[in-house]
Amino acid sequence: MTTILAIETSCDETAVAVVRGGRQVLSNVLFSQINLHAEYGGVVPEIASRKHVESLNPLVDEALRQAKLSLADMDAIAVTQGPGLVGALLIGVSCAKALAFATGKPLVAVHHIEGHVSANYIAHPDLEPPFVCLVASGGHSHILFVEDYGRYRLLGQTLDDAAGEAFDKAARVLGLPYPGGPLLDELAERGDPHALALPKPAPQGRYDYSFSGIKTALINAVHKLRQTGKEIPAADIAASFRYAVVESLIERVMLAATDTAAPALALAGGVAANRLLRRRLQQEADTAGLPLYMPPLELCTDNAAMIGSAAFYRLMRGEIADLSLNADPGLALL
Ligand code: KG4
Ligand code: ZN
Repeated sequence: MTTILAIETSCDETAVAVVRGGRQVLSNVLFSQINLHAEYGGVVPEIASRKHVESLNPLVDEALRQAKLSLADMDAIAVTQGPGLVGALLIGVSCAKALAFATGKPLVAVHHIEGHVSANYIAHPDLEPPFVCLVASGGHSHILFVEDYGRYRLLGQTLDDAAGEAFDKAARVLGLPYPGGPLLDELAERGDPHALALPKPAPQGRYDYSFSGIKTALINAVHKLRQTGKEIPAADIAASFRYAVVESLIERVMLAATDTAAPALALAGGVAANRLLRRRLQQEADTAGLPLYMPPLELCTDNAAMIGSAAFYRLMRGEIADLSLNADPGLALL
């Protein structure tokens, strides 16, 4: 069985995994830098790069140790090439190139979004393309039609903020630390989603998203309330915002799934951890009689196991990178 060592350093998680046959995770280790960036209210690229340098080699050792394998047992070295922060990506790419060069193993370059989609292959051994996938993370909100392994059709995407970015910005208005998405989600569980009426975005593209209008309306509403001394519980504000974003995400991905007559639907990316999104999408999929695939929470946010899975299918197609590989912060998926 083909075994791959995978590295992910596109943002603020340093992650390494060993994945067999694209679906079996032998180890999946991660150092999250969240606490280092929290005091700045967002990811500081320079700090991220430095931390990746410090953490990566020990994590490679740890991933191999937990998998009870050595570098010699690997069939390939995989790495996220982009998109992401260029300085952060470069650390992973340099490390992977050095390992591939030193061992003579093939190098496989992976697109970060393809990694997120592939988290579903790990979680669901029965899942095969074709399916429609909503990838919602801190940097992306894409609706993809996954035609085959490595073959994607972009149906729609956000025209402004990514869903996770919008969650983080709204959370900041509520005084929650970075990254506020998960905390806002938790707070929203106790709130009334109809306390605050927020606009429903309607971008022109049938499967496109737009979250900046909801975000601005929220910021304005909160400021106005503060000025007039009126109190709306933070939980109600969080719940109203989450409701608006989630309903928008669901409406358009369900449209895409129905229009394309996709046999299945999948969810991916950090925002796939959102409780309301998971609950509501499950309801909608059940109503439509559509099988829904969602990764467990630890595979929703950035990790290297998903990169190892995507790399397996690339390797099977003979897509091998050479040692001139460079990080590409704006790498296109299609
Ligand atoms: O996929 P990811 O780890 O990194 C990127 O590729 O961007 O996604 C991180 C994003 C952050 O914006 C974070 O706030 C958001 O996912 N997120 C959530 C939840 N958990 C993570 N947003 C809403 N609800 C959650 N439970
Ligand atoms: Zn990600």
